[in-house]
Amino acid sequence: MSFTIVEPTAARLNRSELAVPGSSPQMFEKAAASNADIVFLDLEDAVAPDKKIEARANVIQALHDVDWGTKTLSVRINGLDTPFMYRDVIEVIEEGGERLDLLMIPKVGTAADVYALDMLVTQVETAIGRKKRLGFELIIETALGMANVEAIAGASKRNESLHFGVADYAASTRARTTMIGGPNPDYGVLTGGPEDAERAYHWGDMWHYAIARLVVAARAHGLRPIDGPFGDFSDPAGFEAHANRAAVLGCEGKWAIHPKQIDLANAVMGPSEADLEKARRILEAMEKATREGKGAVSLDGRLIDIASIKQAEAMVAKAEQIAAATA
Ligand code: GLV
Ligand code: MG
Repeated sequence: MSFTIVEPTAARLNRSELAVPGSSPQMFEKAAASNADIVFLDLEDAVAPDKKIEARANVIQALHDVDWGTKTLSVRINGLDTPFMYRDVIEVIEEGGERLDLLMIPKVGTAADVYALDMLVTQVETAIGRKKRLGFELIIETALGMANVEAIAGASKRNESLHFGVADYAASTRARTTMIGGPNPDYGVLTGGPEDAERAYHWGDMWHYAIARLVVAARAHGLRPIDGPFGDFSDPAGFEAHANRAAVLGCEGKWAIHPKQIDLANAVMGPSEADLEKARRILEAMEKATREGKGAVSLDGRLIDIASIKQAEAMVAKAEQIAAATA
């Protein structure tokens, strides 16, 4: 291990994160009663410019009036380049009471963006004597943000998670897409060569690099890496495949842009019974090995070692967190 210890951020469940437009207050109660681990009330891109002020008022009222239970609650503020952001921060914190847990910051481009927000939020919290310190969810969704992702991840002690905002990222990088967060059939390779009679065409995952890069930056700073939206909410199999590949790369959650996607995200991002059973067997086998003075052992004909224990422990801890939250 390095002498530099990576401190993990607040342990929150973040398997699913439901997006709810601040301009649609009729959706708030349903979101509060849903199975989403985190709900974010949006003041940014799901809200038309002429509805921004009204959406902010709706959100502030809902922070007081809606029973959000034990849900983690976030508000996505407008970007730093807009005339709305400063009032989003000031009014939501000053008038929203103590219920809010997180602020989601879109289109973060540099560490200085996070620093500036930290300063403003700290001033407002201190001025009103807010007891609970707000955490930050940062959306990486521009070429600039991805180029600076490491520095952004380490820019504030408030940082809790990095989110891959695939829709804006595609726009910013001018990637060719057919559907938000989905695959593009043009991103693929042909197997074999011209001499082969039969050649297969393999679709690739055009988001692999971006997600893998975000995961490394997040984990190196103890943050949760979260995969963003999958636009086709009538394609549960497509959503599941994309959530699975994000989980395989290390993400611990995915956005739900429609309530239909919540349970799918929770199922993919939580350990399955089979995974859990295996994790428990690994921990038992390693305990036995430790008692016998061995560093590595085999289980079912495969090598397991200290790294396997860490993964198994993380899985069991996650299952306990889920059990506690759903009890
Ligand atoms: C989310 O904000 C996205 O742009 O995908
Ligand atoms: Mg976006």
